[in-house]
Amino acid sequence: MALPYAEVIGDPIAHSKSPLIHGFWLKALGIEAEYRATHVAPHALSGYFAERKADPDWRGCNITVPHKIAALEHVEDRGDVRRAIGAINTAFRDADGALIGTNTDAAGFAAPLSRFDLAGQPVTVIGAGGAGRAVLYALAGIGVGPVTLFNRDVEKGAALLSSFGLEGQARPIGDAVPPGALVVNATSLGMTGQPPLDLDLSALPQDAVVYDIVYAPLETGLLAAARARGLATIDGLEMLIGQAAVAFERFFGAAPPRERDAELRDILL
Ligand code: ATR
Repeated sequence: MALPYAEVIGDPIAHSKSPLIHGFWLKALGIEAEYRATHVAPHALSGYFAERKADPDWRGCNITVPHKIAALEHVEDRGDVRRAIGAINTAFRDADGALIGTNTDAAGFAAPLSRFDLAGQPVTVIGAGGAGRAVLYALAGIGVGPVTLFNRDVEKGAALLSSFGLEGQARPIGDAVPPGALVVNATSLGMTGQPPLDLDLSALPQDAVVYDIVYAPLETGLLAAARARGLATIDGLEMLIGQAAVAFERFFGAAPPRERDAELRDILL
């Protein structure tokens, strides 16, 4: 009999780090299963899901660019992912055989924040795209205080805040960051090949946390600026590993060995 397997699908797919992460955990736990990278072009997405639904060895998939919105058409949404985030990054088969879509980015983003008490605290978020939506969804769940949302398109930012029922205001990127407990970069600014994100962090208190979802490079200009001011930081690998951990449990029914994150991070760099 063939081995059970899960996979990441996208177009292109070669750059994905998901096989390294899931492969590391499968080996660490001695689970006899595979995790693959599978190229799926947009026109082939519907056929992909039809085929995998009938494959008893398939445990699920992670979904990356450009399928995160289109894949919603092919899965059941048992939470409020469609309404709230509008995109999925994981599909899996549940106990009764239904194909379920979910978004583990929000939970992956929120996991490292459990080390801090952010309830009712003012926070700043940069970005109102797909990643920004997952971040705002998670922050609304934590019950943070007013959110200052920086985005190039300020109207889009304001609409997003009200759609998540968050207090606060939208501002153009370039304004100084107001005092607050947390700053999150949810754009690709600062990523290798993208323009840098230059923020004035001088109003932040010494116990503020700066979180960048970008993981290439691991030390972005934003995180370097935060460290230079002695602030706590969270890098993008924490979210990457966190979203994979939630998906891994769905696929293989076991919690990944997070006590080995340091080893995994070395592999991913
Ligand atoms: P993702 O799914 O990674 O969030 P996205 O949906 O394309 O990608 O969103 C990208 C985010 O980065 C948006 O907030 C975008 O700002 P706009 O909504 O104004 O387009 C922001 N962004 C991307 N490139 C940018 C740039 N050069 N300057 C400022 N903001 C940028």
